[in-house]
Parts: sequence; C-alpha cells; structure tokens
Amino acid sequence: MKIRGYWLASGVLGVTASIMKRVHRAGADVVVTKSIGIEPREGHPGPVITASHGGLLNAIGLTNPGIDGFLEEIDKAQRGGVPVVVSVFGATSDDIASVAETAASLDPIALELNLSCPHAEFSQVGHKPDMTMEYVRAVKRRVDCMVLAKLTPNASDVVAVAKGAEEGGADAIVAVNTLRGMRIDIQQRRPVLGNKVGGLSGPPIFPVAVRCIYDLYDEITVPIIGVGGVASWEDAVEMHLAGASAIQIGTAALGGLDVFERIRRGVDVYLESHGFSDITEIIGEAKRS
Ligand SMILES: Cc1cc2nc3c(=O)[nH]c(=O)nc-3n(C[C@H](O)[C@H](O)[C@H](O)COP(=O)(O)O)c2cc1C
Repeated sequence: MKIRGYWLASGVLGVTASIMKRVHRAGADVVVTKSIGIEPREGHPGPVITASHGGLLNAIGLTNPGIDGFLEEIDKAQRGGVPVVVSVFGATSDDIASVAETAASLDPIALELNLSCPHAEFSQVGHKPDMTMEYVRAVKRRVDCMVLAKLTPNASDVVAVAKGAEEGGADAIVAVNTLRGMRIDIQQRRPVLGNKVGGLSGPPIFPVAVRCIYDLYDEITVPIIGVGGVASWEDAVEMHLAGASAIQIGTAALGGLDVFERIRRGVDVYLESHGFSDITEIIGEAKRS
C-alpha cells in the first residue's frame, strides 16, 4: 500500500465500527483505531481531558476493551469498506507482539505501534532506540502486515528512536504522539487532570510536529506519516513540505468531520496553482531548499 492521504489519528474517534464508517464516509482515507492492549483497561481517573491554549490536554490512560473484545468492531468496520489501521500497545515486547498477532488475523491494512503514550506507566519505550527496535522486531517476527511505529515528541533524540524503529523493521514512522504537559486549577490549587500529567494535542503542538518530521526526513529511508496539530490545508501543505507522505488528523476532527475533505481540496488547489502534478513533488521539499 502507498502511504498517502489524510487519515484519522488514533484514539480521537475510532472506537466503534459505526464511528469508523462515518469518519471514512466523511473523507478520511484510513481510520486508525484507539490503541488496544492485551486486556481490557479502565484508564485513568477523571477528569481525563481539558482544553488548553487552543488545544486539548488528555490523560485518558489507554482505556480500551482489550483486543479480544475489539475484534468484532474492527471486522464490522472493514466489512463496511473502511481501510483500518489497528493501533496496539503493550507493557512488554511480548505483550505488544501478541496483541499485534491477534489484530493481524483480521488482515488490517497496517498495525500502528503506540510506543509513545506520554501518560501511560510504560511510556519509556519510545524514548529508547534499543527498546523501540526490540518492540518493532518482536511484532515483525509475528505478523506479515505493514507495521508503523508511532513516536513521541518527548524523546530527546527522535531521530535515534526512529532509526531504532527502522532497524527493527518498521515500514513507516508516525510522528508524533502528544506532548507531555499539565495544568493547575488556581482556585483549587491542584492539578486539573486526575492523572496530573497529560498529553497536549491540537494547534499548540503543530510546530513541534513539523520540526520532528523535518529532522527525520533525510535521516530515515521509510515514509513518514505526519500528525500533530493539523487543522487546515495550509498546515497539511507545510507538513508535506517538511517530509510527511501522509497526514493523520486527530483533535481537529472533533471540530467537524468535514476537515478531511477541506484539507484534501485545499492541498489539490495548492498543487495545481503552483504547477505540481503530484503530491510527491512537494514531500520533503523544504529540506531541499
Ligand atoms: C483524546 C485523545 C486520545 C488519544 N488516544 C490515543 C491513543 O489511544 N493512541 C495513540 O497512539 N494516540 C492517541 N492520541 C494521540 C493522537 O493520535 C495524535 O497523535 C495527537 O493527538 C496529535 O495529533 P492532533 O494534534 O491532530 O490531535 C490521542 C489524542 C487525543 C486528543
């Protein structure tokens, strides 16, 4: 499969087959599911989400029904014509490989490895190139399908982590997950979120995502799927110029599902008005200037 187009990012809406179908019908080329683990997980105590500085801060804590409880939704979405990427996580490389193997039995278009949730207790994997390599390799040994490694912008050296993922056999890099942050309620004088720390998404993280993608572009050979704060066709063009082959949209999809079509149309008009005939002509172009 060619890595192209505008996808729904993990966790934001992709929780039931009916929502996945709606998002696809509204224009998302691919839908990435909520991250799924080996067993059901309740997640963090509330509040789990708050608005901040034009974006969202969430600490949902990977609430999910476990892979066995989720297979039916994936199957229904796929039978409804939705190209599904299943996002998986695990506390150990063996756990994530087991979840991946079960998910792969439904033949999704790819598996996305969430190595990077900033508020889960095992969030260290995506900071370490060797652990990232081990996790990706463990999954690649057990599945035949395409494997995408989703990285954290909180890593001090995102390029080293991406190289670890590539060495482990990742077919593409997804950059980036949310940025670690927190808010404090000044009346109650305590953290707003039940988990205290959460992950920031939406417009405030856009420049961070662009920087990560730009840094990665000529350091790795696999395609980059950009994600982080994209809300308009201008943002999408900028992210393509930094090096993204495809783009995922999360927070902006909460403001209306027309975002996928708006972005696609805007990018097409931009390409045409600048004399480009294909998106590949602008991917990573900022790096060549
Ligand atoms: C409410 C919410 C839940 C999320 N859940 C997940 C998740 O389960 N797995 C994951 O890999 N990323 C998760 N993310 C991160 C998004 O997939 C995306 O990487 C991030 O929000 C940046 O993109 P955006 O600014 O377009 O939202 C979540 C984000 C939000 C806002």
